[in-house]
Amino acid sequence: MTPEFIYLDNAATTFPKPEGALEHMVELYKIKGVSPGRGGYDLAFEAEDIVFDVRSRLARLFNTPDPERVVFTSNATDSLNIALQGILKKDDHVVSTRLEHNSVLRPLYHLREKGHITYDLIDFDSSGCIDPDDISGAIKKNTKLVVINHVSNVLGAIQPIKEIGEICAKKGALLIVDAAQSAGIIPVNMADWNISAVAFTGHKSLLGPTGTGGLAVSPELEIEPVRFGGTGIDSESPVHNRIYPHRLEAGTVNMIGIIGLSEGLRYIETNGMESIHKKEMELLCRLRDGLSKLESVIDYCADDDENHAAVLTVNIRGIDPGDAGSILDADYGIAVRTGLHCAPHVHENIGTFPGGAVRFSIGPFNTAKHIDTAIEAMTEIDRFSRH
Ligand code: ALA
Repeated sequence: MTPEFIYLDNAATTFPKPEGALEHMVELYKIKGVSPGRGGYDLAFEAEDIVFDVRSRLARLFNTPDPERVVFTSNATDSLNIALQGILKKDDHVVSTRLEHNSVLRPLYHLREKGHITYDLIDFDSSGCIDPDDISGAIKKNTKLVVINHVSNVLGAIQPIKEIGEICAKKGALLIVDAAQSAGIIPVNMADWNISAVAFTGHKSLLGPTGTGGLAVSPELEIEPVRFGGTGIDSESPVHNRIYPHRLEAGTVNMIGIIGLSEGLRYIETNGMESIHKKEMELLCRLRDGLSKLESVIDYCADDDENHAAVLTVNIRGIDPGDAGSILDADYGIAVRTGLHCAPHVHENIGTFPGGAVRFSIGPFNTAKHIDTAIEAMTEIDRFSRH
């Protein structure tokens, strides 16, 4: 009998989306899907209202006052590129960390290769956390910004953003937060934590479709546009409009995706971020407890229920992580992500480079039965690995 498909790759993208969300997205797009903010007719205004409503709810979620400063992009990587390339100037210095995803590492590397910037990457401790004092020590006179991942996509550790924000405010550096793994599941508080900009994706814990995301920009920060084009206003001017959100949005926004994101947000608003996170963490603990009994399983994540997202990265001694992923998929119908998870330095630090590891990531629609099946599968793989 073909096993039931069990999806444990929610850090890559949440799947499935909330029941009925995609159907509602298509239904609304069918009747409201004109170009928002581009026409002088009622339907165009209604479409614009839908987009503004989503900006407003995201601004509330991130505790930032101006919805117009929530600009839509295609994903967190796109947002990070807009922020880093739009802020950094020649001879600026950046402080970042070895926890980062390539969405931060590669734009920084690119800017350094062009001779524009320099940067330092701070190390994390055995629990996967950055010490704010290390950030403080790395900030120099020409440090323009600190850019940091809120939740590691490999280790699940939640970083002390509030403390880092206090340091940045004191030392006059901007703070850019990569909230790809936290937006929608862990609070992100721009105003209280001195965050200058938050890069988020819509398709992970915000439960929207792929191709959605954004950058929430604090009222104190002006980012130079790096993309130029149509904004629907000021068409006579050769200069791209400087007012948010147009300043950082060029061309028609992803209307159907934004409607889908609205549906994801609705699920979070109805069920509560805290209770979704609590449920995911209960399942994570169940998985971690189950796997801890297996002799050949090495767990790289901190044994921390408070400061953690529902991600567990392991290896099985004697089995290549890619092979383990294939066995989980082919023999047990379990989808996980293996390899380096686009975060090579994390794997260098935990000693799993270049092969990587096996990552289980739990979403709101996983059940205890899914976890028990994963534990049973890993128990068999563990037994096999020891013969
Ligand atoms: N960054 C995503 C992940 O960790 C794609 O899987």
